[in-house]
Amino acid sequence: MRSWWQEAVIYQIYPRSFADSNGDGIGDLQGILDHLDYLEWLGVDCLWLTPIYPSPMADFSYDVSNYTDVWPLFGDLALFDELVAQVHERHMRIVLDWVPNHTSSEHPWFQDARSSRDSAFRDFYVWKDSAPDGGPPNNWVRSWVNEPAWTFDQQTQQWYLHCFLPEQPDLNWANPAVRTAMADTLCFWLDRGVDGFRMDVIHLLAKDPEFGDDPEDLKVLSHVVLNHREEIHPILREIRSVVKSYENDPVMVGEVYLIDASLVASYHGNGDELDLAFNFEPMFRPFTAEAWREIIDRVIEHFDARQAWPTWVLNNHDAPRSVTRFRSLERARAAAVMVCTLRGTPFLFQGEELGLENAALEGGEVIDPGFRDGARAPIPWKSAAPHGWPNGAWMQFPPDGETKAVEVQRQDPTSTLSIYRALLQLRREHKALRRGSFSWLESPEGVLSWQRREEEQLVEVHLNFTRDVVAVEARGEVLLSTGRDHAEVFDGSLRAYEAIVMRPTTAP
Ligand code: NOJ
Repeated sequence: MRSWWQEAVIYQIYPRSFADSNGDGIGDLQGILDHLDYLEWLGVDCLWLTPIYPSPMADFSYDVSNYTDVWPLFGDLALFDELVAQVHERHMRIVLDWVPNHTSSEHPWFQDARSSRDSAFRDFYVWKDSAPDGGPPNNWVRSWVNEPAWTFDQQTQQWYLHCFLPEQPDLNWANPAVRTAMADTLCFWLDRGVDGFRMDVIHLLAKDPEFGDDPEDLKVLSHVVLNHREEIHPILREIRSVVKSYENDPVMVGEVYLIDASLVASYHGNGDELDLAFNFEPMFRPFTAEAWREIIDRVIEHFDARQAWPTWVLNNHDAPRSVTRFRSLERARAAAVMVCTLRGTPFLFQGEELGLENAALEGGEVIDPGFRDGARAPIPWKSAAPHGWPNGAWMQFPPDGETKAVEVQRQDPTSTLSIYRALLQLRREHKALRRGSFSWLESPEGVLSWQRREEEQLVEVHLNFTRDVVAVEARGEVLLSTGRDHAEVFDGSLRAYEAIVMRPTTAP
């Protein structure tokens, strides 16, 4: 028996940039509601919303000042309930982003904690005295810039830990009161009917109890990518016991920002920790057959050893878009076929289905403290500017909004949008793609070929990573191609950067 989250395609919505219903230039929950028809038409099974909670937006909503409400510019709880109801009515699911490692410095817990060393909330956060030289307690470096992960608080004369911005103090998960308070936030949303959580930097919750220095030779890396500790496992099991006490099998997707499939796999425990963990290693790979063969083999090896179900991600709000990274729409389309036909759960990021590129901010302006603006540009719904955003949007649109707009691509059967839609439809029609076994097929240099099989159903995928035409030993009916009509018979000749999904002709 498979769980729903193994067969689903999960679509990430960055609400601020998705759709604006009231003309303030910022996307909102009503904007999502207004576009559920589109998402249903596209064929995604589950929506993941990046944080929707009240926040001063120092880190664009990953600095939460109240875990149990909606940011007023996005809407309110009544609108959220409406969204859950309508998503469910359409037989889709909805997952929220849970940010357990840190709060906003404006969260009442931190405001109280920093008011006095005797505060009842002092131990909700990590406070330390200065090192003997008067500097920060250890050498940990925060994310994005080479600066200490500690800030000195004048009033109480101690340092507090923040693996991200100083406006994002880390919670102290060694304190049972933190665990209880955060479990309550999960229940708040589960009671409202959500189908699970994407758990932000979940590997960070367990910290070295000694707060020892990070290795000197790795000090250029932030503590975020160095923190990997055994103490995380009981914490994950405890969170799981809360989440899985609900009957709708809410999914626990962990963002484990360790760029190593073998480490990431361990966060599944023995089937008693995370259901799914993001595995970002492929995002850092070039578009070559060798690189992807190696990473796919590594995922199979380490995830199979744990009987864990892999995830496949090409895009999210933290990374340059795949079209930009691969410097080619054709390559990005072929890679999309890969993530949707490998064994595991695909995650798509809004706008990926349009083949959007990163936006380049005018005059080199930077809005995001993590320099990730380019991938977060608003969705062009309509061809004519301002692209379906009543009064324009909070940031620049991605390039080619006129031709890449949803309304244009919907009409064109050869568009990137049509390819994604066909891919998702194929997954719905073929259990072999959703849950079948995976095995490699022989392939010439520069090509990867694999098959998926479930009982009598057999599907093959052939992907040409090169710009040359390459011949493969395969014949059959084309179910989907990134470079030609879908209804042709495949003669074994792959075009440049072409990915083909086909049903092999059985030998006479
Ligand atoms: C990972 C999120 O994806 C990213 O956007 C955020 O800045 C950090 N975690 C901190 O919450």
